[in-house]
Amino acid sequence: MPHAPDISTTAATLSDRVYSDLGGRARRSGREVFPLHVGDTYREPIPAARAERQRTSAHPHLHTYAPVHGEPALLDAIVARVKQRAGVTLDREDVQVVAGATSGLAIAASVMLDPGDEVLLPAPFWPLIRGVVASRGAVPVQIPFYTELSDPGFDPEAVLERAVTARTAAIYLNTPNNPTGCVLAPETIEAALRVAKRHDLWVLSDEAYEALCFATDPRPVWTYADAAGRTLVAQTVSKTYGLAGARVGYLHGPHTLMRAVRGAQTFATYCAARPMQVAVSHALRQGDVWVAESRALYADAARATAEALGVPAPEAGTFVFADVSRLLDAAPRDANDADDARDGGPDRHEDARAFLERCADAGVLLSPGGAFGTDYARWVRLCFTAVAPDALARALAVLRPLFRG
Ligand SMILES: Cc1ncc(COP(=O)(O)O)c(C=O)c1O
Repeated sequence: MPHAPDISTTAATLSDRVYSDLGGRARRSGREVFPLHVGDTYREPIPAARAERQRTSAHPHLHTYAPVHGEPALLDAIVARVKQRAGVTLDREDVQVVAGATSGLAIAASVMLDPGDEVLLPAPFWPLIRGVVASRGAVPVQIPFYTELSDPGFDPEAVLERAVTARTAAIYLNTPNNPTGCVLAPETIEAALRVAKRHDLWVLSDEAYEALCFATDPRPVWTYADAAGRTLVAQTVSKTYGLAGARVGYLHGPHTLMRAVRGAQTFATYCAARPMQVAVSHALRQGDVWVAESRALYADAARATAEALGVPAPEAGTFVFADVSRLLDAAPRDANDADDARDGGPDRHEDARAFLERCADAGVLLSPGGAFGTDYARWVRLCFTAVAPDALARALAVLRPLFRG
């Protein structure tokens, strides 16, 4: 076997199996398999935005490179959508089309962070952000947050403040949050922004689920006074318009930062796929009814899921995040753990793996909570939009007894 050189130290910390490696086990169960571990939708996008509807006859040069900045029709549609949503007319120059928010956030990390910088990651968080930060050689600092907000003794400003060091360069905010479906209250956003302003931090505002709030549309983070000049917004059409495979998203932020973003985009993917940029421009222009329908369908699915699992319904998004500690083995795993437990030492009880395996054996795939932060090993995430409502009902019938213990 020839010897291969070592991979980089940052790459060694990354895995492509963040969501679930239990697929084979579920398939072997011989049962109907419900892939509720992936964050996606069963809905097809509006016809005008589908890949098969884009024609070279309507768009000469459809298959050439798009401008680095973005397809002009898409940039116009983004500016119009932001105006409709937030009442603010962005300067087109301050918008950058990217190949999905994942790529956009990697570009953001490359322009905001130097290796060794620390990024505050209120947890639980979308798992890929940890890898995005780590890939830059920066340090993700995990802070239990979204799950703590309902605790009357929890002071978001004090908690974030305590995590700041001389190396802190940025804070990542994600409202609505993946995985909890929590929508941050204005006073929590203000508290986080005060910390950012006090320590001159960048704010990375991930708005992937911004259009999927089930009650009211909250005010976007970037429109708060203390966000000015320091906030980069990452947006995607993956969730709002059911176009995850299109790999199109956009960033917008302060002018000087966006010039650097444009430079970084040139060396990242150069441009997002041109045919899909055209497709997405149609989604942004004609997708309002589809989005409203999705919101209503997803809200129903959220309620049904929460009821079946016996947890509070999320306020937004496509996920339920559940603490399954009570369903796990209460006994410490080995003699040392037993000593620790007696001494009040570290809690090394069973993580959610055995419970996830029980679900997989019944045909349902869920994500391990540990992917969303080290404090969430005894939690699991379920995506209630991954399968159509009839299939979701069958999956919930399977899960109901498993969650009741
Ligand atoms: C919070 C959050 N941000 C960003 C993304 C990435 O979006 P995209 O598909 O545009 O890369 C996701 C996808 O699941 C997400 O949940």
